[in-house]
Amino acid sequence: MRLPRPRGLLSSRLLSVLSGPVRRDGGLRDAAATAVQEAGTVLSDDDVQLGLVLLQELSHDGLDAVDDSWERSADVVDARAVLEDAVEAELRDEVAPAVARWLPPARLDLAETLFEVTDAAEGPSLAGHLQRQATRPQLDEFLVQRSLLQLREADAHTWLIPRLTGRPKAALVEVQSDEYGGGRLEAMHQQLYANTLREAGLDPEYGSYLDRLPATTLAGSTTARMFGQQRRLRGAAAGHLAAVEATSSLPNRRFAAAVRRLGLGDRAAAYFDEHVVADAAHEQVVVRDLCGGLVEQEPALLEDVLFGAASCLLLDARMATAVLDAWAAGESSLLPAEPQQRLGAAS
Ligand SMILES: [Fe+2]
Ligand SMILES: [Fe+2]
Repeated sequence: MRLPRPRGLLSSRLLSVLSGPVRRDGGLRDAAATAVQEAGTVLSDDDVQLGLVLLQELSHDGLDAVDDSWERSADVVDARAVLEDAVEAELRDEVAPAVARWLPPARLDLAETLFEVTDAAEGPSLAGHLQRQATRPQLDEFLVQRSLLQLREADAHTWLIPRLTGRPKAALVEVQSDEYGGGRLEAMHQQLYANTLREAGLDPEYGSYLDRLPATTLAGSTTARMFGQQRRLRGAAAGHLAAVEATSSLPNRRFAAAVRRLGLGDRAAAYFDEHVVADAAHEQVVVRDLCGGLVEQEPALLEDVLFGAASCLLLDARMATAVLDAWAAGESSLLPAEPQQRLGAAS
C-alpha cells in the first residue's frame, strides 16, 4: 500500500522509522502510549487510527518500500498492542450497556438475540438517503468511504478460520468461500467492489484514498482486523461478522437502487446486487452455525460474541452519522484533498 500522509506525531514517527532498516526502537511503544493518552477518544483520533492502519498493514498488503520483516519486530508488536488494547477497552466501555441488556438469562437464545438486535439497529439511514436523494458526488464519496474495507472484504474474518473446529469452522468456510467468489476472480466481492469504483470513474487501487478517510471510517477496518487477528478475541470476530452479514441485505438493495438512479449501470450495481441475495443466506449461516456453534462449544464466549456484534453496529452508526452530518452541513464527509487531488482515477 502506498504510504499515506502523517496525521500527527505517532503516524509521522511510524512512517519515518518503518521506511528505514529494521532495528530496535523502543520509542515506538512510548510514541503509541503517548498518542493514546493524548487522544480524547482513540476511536475517533486520526493519528491513533492511522498509526494502527500502518501497523496492521504490515500483516496484510504490506507498505510500499517498507521491509516486511518489520511485522515481527518486537517494537512494532508492542506498539500495535498498545493501540489495539486501547481501542478494545474503549469499545468495551462504549457497548457495555447494550451487551448487558442483551445478556440476561431470559434471552439465552443467541440466534434470536442477534437477529433482534441487528434488526433493531436503526442508526441513521445512509442507505435511505442514498436511495432517495443523494447527489452523484455524494455517491462517489460513499464509495470512497467504503473503499478500504470493501477492497479487502472478508480478509479480516478469514483470520478466524484456523482458530475454529467443527460446525463453526465449516460455517465460516462456506461463507468466506462465497466472499472470495467460490474461487472465481470475477465473482470475488473485492473484485466486484473494484469494478464498482472503476465504473464510477474512481481509483480501484487498494489504499489510494487512505488520506481522505477520517478516523471514524478507519476504526471500522482496524477493529475488524484486531478481532480477526487475536485468538483471544475469536468470539468478538464471530459476533462482528454476524452483525456485518445481518445488516447487509436491505441496505444493499437501496445502494443498488442509488447506483442506478444516478445513472451508473448494472456492472456498477453488481457488487450491491450480489449482497442482497448472498447476505440473506450468509446471515443465517453466520448467526446460527458460526456464532451458535461456537458458543455451544465454548459457552464462555457468549458475551464476546455480543461485544463483537455491538462494536460493529456502533462503528457503522458512527460512520453513517458523520457522513450524513457533513452532507447536511453542505460539506464533504472526506478529509481535505491535497491541492489538485480529485476523487477521479486520473489523480
Ligand atoms: Fe461480501
Ligand atoms: Fe456476506
